[in-house]
Amino acid sequence: MERNTVMFSALILVWLTLVNGSPASLEVGKLTKATNVSWSSYNFKTILTWGPKPVNYTYTVEFSRVGRDKVRNPHCIRSSETECDLTNELELKGVYSADVLSESPLGSADYVEPPYTRSETFCPYNDTIIGRPEFRLNANKNNKIMLIIQDPITALHKDGRSLNIRDVFKKNLKYKIAYNKAGSTGKKMRTVDESKAEFNSLDEDQSYCFSVAAYIPSRKGDKRIGEWSLPKCSPQEHKTLIEVYGLAVIGGATLIILAFVIAVIVLIVVCCKRARRQTSMAKEIKEYNISDV
Ligand SMILES: *[C@@H]1O[C@H](CO)[C@@H](O)[C@H](O)[C@H]1NC(C)=O
Ligand SMILES: *[C@@H]1O[C@H](CO)[C@@H](O)[C@H](O)[C@H]1NC(C)=O
Ligand SMILES: *[C@@H]1O[C@H](CO)[C@@H](O)[C@H](O)[C@H]1NC(C)=O
Repeated sequence: MERNTVMFSALILVWLTLVNGSPASLEVGKLTKATNVSWSSYNFKTILTWGPKPVNYTYTVEFSRVGRDKVRNPHCIRSSETECDLTNELELKGVYSADVLSESPLGSADYVEPPYTRSETFCPYNDTIIGRPEFRLNANKNNKIMLIIQDPITALHKDGRSLNIRDVFKKNLKYKIAYNKAGSTGKKMRTVDESKAEFNSLDEDQSYCFSVAAYIPSRKGDKRIGEWSLPKCSPQEHKTLIEVYGLAVIGGATLIILAFVIAVIVLIVVCCKRARRQTSMAKEIKEYNISDV
């Protein structure tokens, strides 16, 4: 009896190896191997995803730091979902890989290794996408513009507080700032260490447009740059008349214009009065002549 079971298991194992070896037949009984196993991670919210939707079987996720024991997340055992949230399971600087196992829901096939697909390796610190930062523009006199950048919030917590990317990356976090004169295409680039930047020598009376992205030089390739923010532009300087000519000149000009207008009005009134007097005098003379005849 016991020997039979062992023989049977061995046979199934051999059969599984054969079947799994050829991509044409991924199905083992009714269990389908997971496909497209991939990490998606945004501001340290990290989710493992795969397909297809299971019918009459379940998936279990096992993950491990490279070279260490496998761990399971209780939410992703014998589950019919095709994703597993591992945000709170991963250490920042760990390098992980994950297996997605296809298992029958009853666990009747537990004595053979279930078919599985392994993910690529993933390291939160190096691989999560850093989302677009928000920032404020403070334009003041003297053609100075201050950029004040808000470090994006991550999905990580410590002592009941959400961590932002500055808490995580510390000195490794820089920002890239791309800017150009409004309406021109020539972009300039600047890298800053802090979450703020000052622009001093900008052209007068010009509007400038800025976009900002997190920049982590310790990473590799295109992982260094996070998502770019939407552009924001400084207001076009519309100097008022007072700024251009000064208060005294404007006041003087206003007085002169006022005096001129008053003079014109006085003149018109005087003329009208004189004209009316002349016409009425002419009328009187005429009436007198007629009655005289
Ligand atoms: C896997 O990805 C490919 C291409 O991205 C897609 O065509 C296919 O439908 C995906 N398969 C599953 C099971 O999600
Ligand atoms: C899933 O199981 C149900 C009930 O056992 C069965 O009726 C159905 O045909 C199965 N579906 C597949 C795709 O095996
Ligand atoms: C992140 O990537 C850099 C550059 O490839 C590497 O030197 C570093 O060890 C990586 N960090 C982690 C925690 O894997």
